[in-house]
Amino acid sequence: MNPSTEPVDDNLPMRESGLWAKDKLRVLEAYMRVFGISMREKGWCAFHYVDIMAGAGKNRIRETGEIVLGSPLIALNQEIFTGYFFCEADPVAFEALQTRVRAHPRGRSASLYQQDANSAIGDICDRIKAVDRNRGKVWGSLNLAFIDPEGPSDVKWSTVERLAAVNRMDMIINVPTNGISRLYGRQNYKAVDDFFGTDAWRRNVRPEDNAATKRRHWLNLYKQRLQPYEYTALDEDDIPVLKEFIARNSREAQLYTLIFASKHPLGDHLWEQVLRHLNQRPLF
Ligand SMILES: C[S@@+](CC[C@H](N)C(=O)[O-])C[C@H]1O[C@@H](n2cnc3c(N)ncnc32)[C@H](O)[C@@H]1O
Repeated sequence: MNPSTEPVDDNLPMRESGLWAKDKLRVLEAYMRVFGISMREKGWCAFHYVDIMAGAGKNRIRETGEIVLGSPLIALNQEIFTGYFFCEADPVAFEALQTRVRAHPRGRSASLYQQDANSAIGDICDRIKAVDRNRGKVWGSLNLAFIDPEGPSDVKWSTVERLAAVNRMDMIINVPTNGISRLYGRQNYKAVDDFFGTDAWRRNVRPEDNAATKRRHWLNLYKQRLQPYEYTALDEDDIPVLKEFIARNSREAQLYTLIFASKHPLGDHLWEQVLRHLNQRPLF
């Protein structure tokens, strides 16, 4: 990485993450790079990156002690983006994020929200829509959102729906399937409803379903929920190579999956290309 874009080394708080976070961030970074190369010649008036659960900006990998840039700093290093929206609710993580963003040469393009993403989302989407309104429909903004909760209770469906209503908003969504099944197991059905924005799942999911069946129900429902917004949403059923990047805990339970949602086939194509390419190289 170019040292001029690497923020000064610091002793600020960072997030302790499992090894899987490194995989997730590698996929994200690779997608952003390919997105940048493919889109830079096009005439979009702005490229926004929206990270509604941004973290502290750096992660320490528990198993190796290695320090890796978090999603907001990875995005700041991509020159394609002209504007950033970062949201982080935890005050300690927010403070560290803010300091790191301010130290970054491109940090002035970022708007930071120390707020619950579910309440900040209205302002973020209004600001992007205002850019689009000023430009008319053609060559407005092109946008990428990363939705990376710690668990299903962090992000409500209404928040994803707000993002989905923006014209050109591709989304990479970490769907915490294991966490959803845990909520279901504890009969916290209201929290499951909030995650999906519907209780339709109650007719299909049964306590006797095994973990894989429940997981498939959750993923299919999430994809279905995105369809009215003209998204195709891809998970590991659509791109089997994604299985290689799925986080598993020490008991081999699958923790989450990344869903890629785009309203344009080119987005799907780039996502698939990135996964295939990464899978041909060793991860660590
Ligand atoms: C999985 S971490 C994000 C890690 C980051 N994407 C990265 O890769 O470096 C999730 C972050 O979201 C924050 N968070 C959880 N719920 C939130 C909410 N409702 N609004 C804003 N931030 C939230 C947590 O404090 C945590 O820092």
